[in-house]
Amino acid sequence: RNDEAEIRIGFSQAMIADEWRQSMNNAMELQASLYPNVTLSISNADYNVENQIKQLKEFIAADVDIIIVSPIQSKPITPIVEEAMKAGIPVLVVDRKTDNQKYTAYVGADNIEVGRNAAKIIVSNLPDSLKVVEIRGLAGSSPAEERSLGFHQILDKFPSIEFMGTIQGDWEKESITGGFKELLQEIGPVDYVFVHNDRMALGAWEVARNLGIEDQIKIIGVDGLNGPNGGIQLVKEGVLNATILYPTGGDEAIKTALKILNDEIVPVNNILSTTVIDRFNAEIMQNQLNKINEQQTLLESQVTAVKRQKELYYSQNNILKIILGF
Ligand code: FRU
Repeated sequence: RNDEAEIRIGFSQAMIADEWRQSMNNAMELQASLYPNVTLSISNADYNVENQIKQLKEFIAADVDIIIVSPIQSKPITPIVEEAMKAGIPVLVVDRKTDNQKYTAYVGADNIEVGRNAAKIIVSNLPDSLKVVEIRGLAGSSPAEERSLGFHQILDKFPSIEFMGTIQGDWEKESITGGFKELLQEIGPVDYVFVHNDRMALGAWEVARNLGIEDQIKIIGVDGLNGPNGGIQLVKEGVLNATILYPTGGDEAIKTALKILNDEIVPVNNILSTTVIDRFNAEIMQNQLNKINEQQTLLESQVTAVKRQKELYYSQNNILKIILGF
C-alpha cells in the first residue's frame, strides 16, 4: 500500500450521548489526524439498531477501506458484519462484539475479567455472610453478558454469599433506579452492588441515599473515566467503593485499523488491560491520566499548527503561481 494513498475509515458508533463514547471518539479523531491521508467518518447510530444496520450498509456501499463498529447489540449486527467481510471490507469490532468471530479483529478490554475483578473485591474480605445484588447493562450487548459471566464464575463459588437478585438495566441510570428502589424496599440494605457501569452505579447510589442507607451499601462500578463526573472522582468521593477500569481503546482502534490495511499480521483479539480503581489508587490514577490529557492537548495544538502551516504554504504557493504566471 502506497503511504500517500487515501484511506477511508468508516466508524459506526453505538451512540455519542455519554462521556465514555465521546472520549473514545476524541481519541480516534486525534489518532486519525496524525495521518494526513486518513479520513475518519464517524456515524452515530443513536442507540437504534436499525440505524446502525443502515449506516453499516452505507459504509459497504461506499466501499470504505475498513469498517470499525461498536455494535449496540450482538445478534442483529452479526449478519451485516459478515456481509461487509464478504464484500472484501475488513471489519474491526471495538468494545462490544458480534455473535461469532467473523470479523477481522477485536479491540477492547476482556469483559469477563472485568466481572471477575468485581467479584474478587467482594470475596477478598469475606465475613460469615454477605448480601449481593447485580445491576446489568443492556441485554444482548456483549459487555453485559460477559461482565455477568465473569462475576458469577467467582461469586457463585462462595456459599457464604447470598445473591439477592439482578436488576436489568440498559446502561443508563434511568433504566435501573425504579427497580433498584423497589428491591431495596423489599429486602433492605445489601452489602455490595456490582453495577455494570459507573453511570448506572451513580443512579444506584442516589437511590440508596434517598432511602438513607448509602453508608451501608458498597457499590462497584465499571469504566473509571477521568474527569468531574467520572468513576475515578466518584471513588475519591466515596460514592463508589471501587470501579473497574474499562479503557475506550480509541487510539488503539485506529492504530490497529491501519496495521490491518498495511497487511501487517494483527491478532484477532487485541485485549486492553483493565484494573481495579479503589480509594488506594484513585488519586494516582487521576494524576497519571491528567498528565496524559495534557500531552494530548499539546499534541492536538501541534497538529493544528502543522495544518495551518501547510494551508499557508499552499496559499502562498498559489499566489506565487499567479504572479509568476504558471
Ligand atoms: C458507554 C457504555 C459504557 C460501558 C460500555 C459497554 O456507552 O455504556 O459505560 O462500559 O458502553 O459497551
